[in-house]
Amino acid sequence: MRVLVIGSGGREHALCRSLAADPQVTEVHCAPGNAGVAQVATLHPVVATDPAAVTRLAGELGADLVVIGPEAPLVAGVADAVRRAGVPCFGPSAEAARIEGSKSFAKEVMTSAGVPTARSRTCVTPEETAAALEEFGTPYVVKDDGLAAGKGVVVTDDRQEALRHAATCGRVVVEEFLDGPEVSLFALCDGSTAVPLQPAQDHKRAYDGDLGPNTGGMGAYTPLPWAPADLTGRVMAETVIPTVNELAGRGTPYTGVLFVGLALTSSGPKVIEFNARFGDPETQVVLDRLQTPLAGLLLACATGTLGGFGPLSYREGAAVTVVVAAENYPGEPVRGDVVEGLCDIAGDDAYVLHSGTVFDGDHVVSGGGRVLSVVGTGPDVAAARAAAYRAVGRVRLRGSHHRTDIAGRGA
Ligand code: AMP
Ligand code: GLY
Repeated sequence: MRVLVIGSGGREHALCRSLAADPQVTEVHCAPGNAGVAQVATLHPVVATDPAAVTRLAGELGADLVVIGPEAPLVAGVADAVRRAGVPCFGPSAEAARIEGSKSFAKEVMTSAGVPTARSRTCVTPEETAAALEEFGTPYVVKDDGLAAGKGVVVTDDRQEALRHAATCGRVVVEEFLDGPEVSLFALCDGSTAVPLQPAQDHKRAYDGDLGPNTGGMGAYTPLPWAPADLTGRVMAETVIPTVNELAGRGTPYTGVLFVGLALTSSGPKVIEFNARFGDPETQVVLDRLQTPLAGLLLACATGTLGGFGPLSYREGAAVTVVVAAENYPGEPVRGDVVEGLCDIAGDDAYVLHSGTVFDGDHVVSGGGRVLSVVGTGPDVAAARAAAYRAVGRVRLRGSHHRTDIAGRGA
């Protein structure tokens, strides 16, 4: 099987690595990829959000499966174009990807499907926003209605800051604050059937102790020893299956991964957000544990045959990933610094996945905010965490920063 992966982050490196390990796979291609992905896939300089260019590349390569990593190509209709050309594609249509692309659409779907989530109001004018802030109280949660690459949400006790954020966004969703630990659950979907992967936890804030600005995610781990035993079953029954049925009933069946971001509140798991793609960096740890060959599984989603696929299997033990970010991330990151020490991380219990890296001659240099993530593995979360941090200690990147408390709760 020939597989083409679209995207260039740590998630895509993890996807390509797992796909390359599937005995059914003969070739892994990635567009555009990064310096790390180049170790496991053939790179192609194609713009990920260009439906015609991606479809042409899939045709030229004779791809049997296209896997779309990030949200921007999905929202741009890349999956629709690839499917129209007759190539199986893992990733929702532009219409179904609105579940991530528009917060108000996601809320509307959740309301119709009876999915537990924060009460909310969609607001356009400052008066509407002020009234919604008043209604839900502090902490205020204000979300840009459109895609904002992880920068669209403000959670604050400062009313002026909440109003300012709303003014810069235009259309916002204001909602009730959900209290409780956050969990990421990925459900693989083929339009009608959904199969959950093992839950993971991300750490969204930039600094230790969940302080500082929101980021795309600074580290993750799986499994979650502290999570309720019925968590996955409950979220499948209350959230995933009703949502998949709702979208199918609307004539926009969901094919791909439905990423459910949850808060485990005192009244049960509630949806914070849906994403139309795998989470980054949660994917790095979930795929590390997944033993079921990935290409066959994603192809079953793309071809509507997930119902007969059979149960998934996992490696025992745990995985922890720690993101090494460039100077100034999540602000405009400093790029072009040489990354050193990667060759020293070749043990059995840790490895590096690249996110924002490029080649400069023989050197790997930073080319984005989250530069790489180190995955540590072990018999339990504490051991995996120790392995990850031992390896992070070997990475040398001028000005870089990482959190030192990833998976602390899990360990
Ligand atoms: P999102 O982009 O929707 O994932 O939001 C980013 C982060 O903001 C989430 O991971 C949460 O930490 C926080 N957040 C979003 N919505 C809420 C909410 N209703 N209550 C509490 N925290 C939230
Ligand atoms: N790690 C959270 C996300 O991918 O949005």
